[in-house]
Amino acid sequence: MSATPHTPVPQNLDAPLPMTLPRLAEKKRLGERIVMVTAYDYPSAQVAQEAGVDVVLVGDSGAMTVLGYPSTVPVSTDEMLMLASAVRRGLRTPLLVGDLPFGSYEASDEQAIGTAQRFVKEAGCDAVKLERGGTTAQRARAIVQAGIPVIGHVGLTPQTATALGGYRAQGRTAQRALEVAKDALALQQAGCFSIVFEAIPAAVAQALVARLEVPVIGIGAGPATDGQVLVFHDLLGIYDGHTPRFAKRYEEVKAQMVAGVAEYAAEVRQGAFPAAEHTYSIDDDELEQFLAGLE
Ligand code: KIV
Repeated sequence: MSATPHTPVPQNLDAPLPMTLPRLAEKKRLGERIVMVTAYDYPSAQVAQEAGVDVVLVGDSGAMTVLGYPSTVPVSTDEMLMLASAVRRGLRTPLLVGDLPFGSYEASDEQAIGTAQRFVKEAGCDAVKLERGGTTAQRARAIVQAGIPVIGHVGLTPQTATALGGYRAQGRTAQRALEVAKDALALQQAGCFSIVFEAIPAAVAQALVARLEVPVIGIGAGPATDGQVLVFHDLLGIYDGHTPRFAKRYEEVKAQMVAGVAEYAAEVRQGAFPAAEHTYSIDDDELEQFLAGLE
């Protein structure tokens, strides 16, 4: 018996193909920008799918945007897995990446591999992401060697923002920019197939993108990166906590949601909802018999 998985023949030859690591590498080679967005549940995954993005990240930013924590630090692996599983059910073609939460991969290679395996086995992720260089590069290497693709993340790494002096741009001195470069190169060396650059000067990102072989996805790192990522709730205006300057708002969805629910509340209070078209009928005979039965 062949161990090769059966791949169904696509019915619609125009349908987009699933995103793969070689296709992402090819995009960098061809200079085609990569589009990545976060998602945390079934509807946001469906939106990302229908909008045709390349990569969906179940970011630990979901700790703040959908779970209401004050930072990304408290979110647990089980909480992230629940979000990632819901996203999996809403996606077909984008590559699905799960963010390893703070405290779930730093202690040892065994811990990192175990957590990454849960994202693949339990939530159906294609890859995982972890933050920082230093010992994280070793954890990334261990996960890659265990057969799971990894994205690195350098610059502003929110899981360790306190140690970085807060949520502020990184790499703004020559020495700090060289540290970012060292981390990025170590992650590439460890086998990461892509690296996120968060909140670093555009000129620093531009110099590093030219020196890295793997695609660089920027968020607050200027236009020279191979792709961009934004947090779903920031770009759609759903989250009204602190929004960094790099988070461009494309819509104000929260205002529309509040308006919709406020209108519903007003109509319920006035007795205007539900109207006839929202109600079910019963034949007069049946109703009569029912009322008689109640007597
Ligand atoms: O958690 C997240 O959303 C992220 C992106 C900002 C890259 O890590």
